[in-house]
Amino acid sequence: MWDKRYSEDGFAYGSEPNDFIKAEYSQIPKGGRVLCLAEGEGRNAVFLAKQGYAVTAMDQSVVGLEKAQALAAENGVEITTVVANLKDYDLGTDAWDGIVSIFAHVPLELRLKLHKQVVVALKKNGVFILEAYTPAHIEMDGVGGPPPSQVEMFMSVEGLKNELKGLDIVVGAEVEREIFEGKYHQGKGAVVQIVACSRD
Ligand SMILES: C[S@@+](CC[C@H](N)C(=O)[O-])C[C@H]1O[C@@H](n2cnc3c(N)ncnc32)[C@H](O)[C@@H]1O
Repeated sequence: MWDKRYSEDGFAYGSEPNDFIKAEYSQIPKGGRVLCLAEGEGRNAVFLAKQGYAVTAMDQSVVGLEKAQALAAENGVEITTVVANLKDYDLGTDAWDGIVSIFAHVPLELRLKLHKQVVVALKKNGVFILEAYTPAHIEMDGVGGPPPSQVEMFMSVEGLKNELKGLDIVVGAEVEREIFEGKYHQGKGAVVQIVACSRD
């Protein structure tokens, strides 16, 4: 599905960064190593590289990451891209100053495993930034998010606080906001926003 979507003209979620990343990225230690999970066509990775971070973007979509590399070249920055499935991807230990997860909706079991890895993979003072749709989004008429039948793929502050035990939650909010991020994220959305820091 994702290769097909990313084979369409233009950028499915736009070439500009996600609004929450734009607002919060500076909490990530300056110049640090940043991992963008399920990064698709690279809009956030390229933005972060332009801010001086050393960015790795991972996703399962070859087509998406090829477009990410093209976007980076167009913007005169370098990013590392890794084609991988989150099921097998090893985030490492004490490896990243920042980890970014924007609309990375995966099945619950995988998400629980992934978020445990995030806690371990952040360096001391490393920062995790996430935005994702909440179940309340199902009732909204905006475009975006997993199919309503896959309600376990939506996220909540309460759930994420549990999943990210070991990190300090600096921002943990559920908000409704207007989203205009490419043709696949349009209109009113209900999202959870997390900024969490590793203090150990
Ligand atoms: C809604 S898009 C978001 C893309 C990007 N984060 C952004 O905000 O523009 C979801 C992304 O998750 C990726 N994805 C879904 N399941 C995945 C998995 N198991 N492993 C790696 N990537 C996955 C898809 O390929 C897709 O690029």
